[in-house]
Amino acid sequence: MQLDSKLPHVGTTIFSIMSRMAAESNAINLSQGFPDFNAPRELLDAVTEAMLSGQNQYAPQNGVEELRVAIAKKSEAIYGANLDKDQEITVSSGASEAIFNAVTAVIHPGDEAILFDPAYDCYEPAIRLAGGVAKRIPLKFPSYDYDWDQVRDTLSPKTRLIMINSPHNPTGKILRDQDIEALTTIVRDHDCVLISDEVYEHIVFDGEPHRSFLKYPELRERSFVISSFGKTY
Ligand SMILES: Cc1ncc(COP(=O)(O)O)c(C=O)c1O
Repeated sequence: MQLDSKLPHVGTTIFSIMSRMAAESNAINLSQGFPDFNAPRELLDAVTEAMLSGQNQYAPQNGVEELRVAIAKKSEAIYGANLDKDQEITVSSGASEAIFNAVTAVIHPGDEAILFDPAYDCYEPAIRLAGGVAKRIPLKFPSYDYDWDQVRDTLSPKTRLIMINSPHNPTGKILRDQDIEALTTIVRDHDCVLISDEVYEHIVFDGEPHRSFLKYPELRERSFVISSFGKTY
């Protein structure tokens, strides 16, 4: 049977290619986060204990309550954001699923979404599967600064979404105060949703703060802020 791909131009991800090459040539693999140490014994014991004590049922769709309470407490402690555990926090199977869910929830056929290039490789396929069109704006070497004038020029009545990733994979670029101000002004004049991919929120150097969208009420009210257990924990 011949299957007709919905994404015929999406090949194998660069991560799989690089990891295969690293394995084949016995090289150190810096392309994907493969820690060379095991998970802590306490964590493994706690997971085993939970499974042995019969906690093997379907989880609630938006995530186990204790976990959502813990996420709310953490967001309050770190970003001063008072999040409603039932209405504003959803646990997904990784950030990739959260990105897919958020994109497909807001993009309708013909909608445009602005991305910054290089963009994490699951963004555009999700936009396309939802029938949307990705508008890519380069972060230019060597500064990788955001060109907010270009963002303004790219915005159209069809723009439904802007996707930001700070700290940025792979450049390490982080949003500064002037970027937050520029973006806030732009979205004030243009009714669009934001996805803030903050999976590297705890990997920031040089004493810089992480500027989470949860800290800025005008951004927060229109944002999906996406974190991950897969990077820091
Ligand atoms: C920028 C960025 N967003 C999202 C993800 C996906 O995170 P997860 O492993 O939680 O699905 C990654 C993973 O490398 C990433 O680099």
